[in-house]
Parts: sequence; structure tokens; C-alpha cells
Amino acid sequence: MLNIVIFGAPGSGKGTQSERIVEKYGINHISTGDVLRAEIKNNTELGKTAKGYIDQGQLIPDSLMIDILASVFDSFQDSKGVIFDGFPRTIPQAEALKVMLKERGQDISVMLDLDVPEEELMTRLIKRGQESGRADDNEETIKKRLVVYNTQTSPLKEFYKGEGKYKHIQGLGTMDGIFADICKAIG
Ligand code: AP5
Ligand code: MG
Repeated sequence: MLNIVIFGAPGSGKGTQSERIVEKYGINHISTGDVLRAEIKNNTELGKTAKGYIDQGQLIPDSLMIDILASVFDSFQDSKGVIFDGFPRTIPQAEALKVMLKERGQDISVMLDLDVPEEELMTRLIKRGQESGRADDNEETIKKRLVVYNTQTSPLKEFYKGEGKYKHIQGLGTMDGIFADICKAIG
């Protein structure tokens, strides 16, 4: 299986590039953010819990996220691989992912770190907020999300360097150009 972690700050292009990867490599996509937004839309108990955190730009507790991830992963039949988008976001999530995959005879193939300057992230997300109205795409919440990324999520770069899986991707440029670099990194 081709198991990819697509990594980067809010607005770095994880969702955009995941769509292209899914199309080219025929693998499944898990976006934990999309899973949570669907739960909110359906007004489930999980959705109600998640909304409180997302609106504040904070992370949902690890224990909850890890259970969700495993159940989505196990719902795929005869999968060629999975792209993990927005997960892991903390060291405990990365460790849990490793254990979960190992229990299923699997491993992460590569971690792609989409590197984009903060000014550009802010510009992209403000624009998306105006166009599509994602509730957490407002300046105040974006700032909080960036702080959470820098403190809780960014240390995962070192984690995956230690695992020998880390690939840096220049995330500034055209979507096609970035996708070409991603394909090279996947090999
Ligand atoms: P999540 O949904 O994962 O949001 P995020 O990490 O903040 O990232 P985004 O989805 O905003 O950005 P993206 O990197 O996917 O970029 P995109 O391709 O959309 O998480 C939301 C919340 O859910 C979290 O804050 C947290 O509360 C909770 N959550 C989720 N997972 C969790 C977990 N594992 N643990 C705990 N809590 C969790 O691109 C952004 C915009 O830029 C788009 O408009 C796009 O068109 C544009 N764009 C893309 N590429 C380019 C380019 N090359 N040039 C110009 N514009 C571009
Ligand atoms: Mg996304």
C-alpha cells in the first residue's frame, strides 16, 4: 500500500493536492477536517463536540481523533493506499498512527511537508473565507490555528525526519508545479 501523510499549516494546500494524488494514484483520502465538518453538518454528538474546538481554532482531543481515524481507515475495502490529510497533528497522534498501521501490517511510505510562508497562508484563507464561508476562515481564528500549528503540529517534522520519511515540498507556486514536485517525491 502507498500510505502518504500530507502535512502543512492551515491553507498550505493539503486538500488541493490530496485530490490530485487520489486521482493519479487511486488511493483513498482521509481528511479529518472534512470528517469533522460532515459531523457538524449532520448535527451529531461528535459534531457538537468538534464545533466548540474548531470555532476556537483548537485541536479536538487526541483520543477522540485516533478512534475516528481507525474507524475510517478500516472502512476502506481492498485499498491501494491512503492519504492522511490533517492527521497526525500531534506527536501522540503520530505514534498512534504508527501503531495502528503496524497492527494492520502497514507503514507510512512518505510524509510530504508543504512549506508556505505565513503571509501567503493568511491571504489564501481570508480569500476562501470570503468565497466559500468556512466558519474557521476568519482572521482571528486563522491566527489561532497558526499558533496551534507552530506549537503542537510543527514538531512532527522532526518526528518524520527521525523515521526517515520526511520530504520537503515548496508549497508556494502553481498548483500544477507543486503537484509535479509531489509526484517526484512519491517516486
Ligand atoms: P482542517 O480541515 O484539516 O484544516 P487546516 O489544517 O486548517 O487546513 P485547511 O483545510 O484550511 O487547508 P489545506 O492545507 O487543506 O489547504 P487547501 O488545499 O484547502 O482542520 C480544521 C480543524 O479541524 C482544525 O483546526 C481542528 O480544530 C480540527 N481537526 C482536524 N484534524 C484534526 C486532528 N487530526 N486533530 C485534532 N483536530 C483536528 O487550500 C487552501 C486555499 O488555498 C484554497 O482556497 C485553495 O484553493 C488555495 N490554494 C491551494 N493551493 C494553492 C496554490 N498553490 N496557490 C494559491 N492558492 C492555493
Ligand atoms: Mg484541508
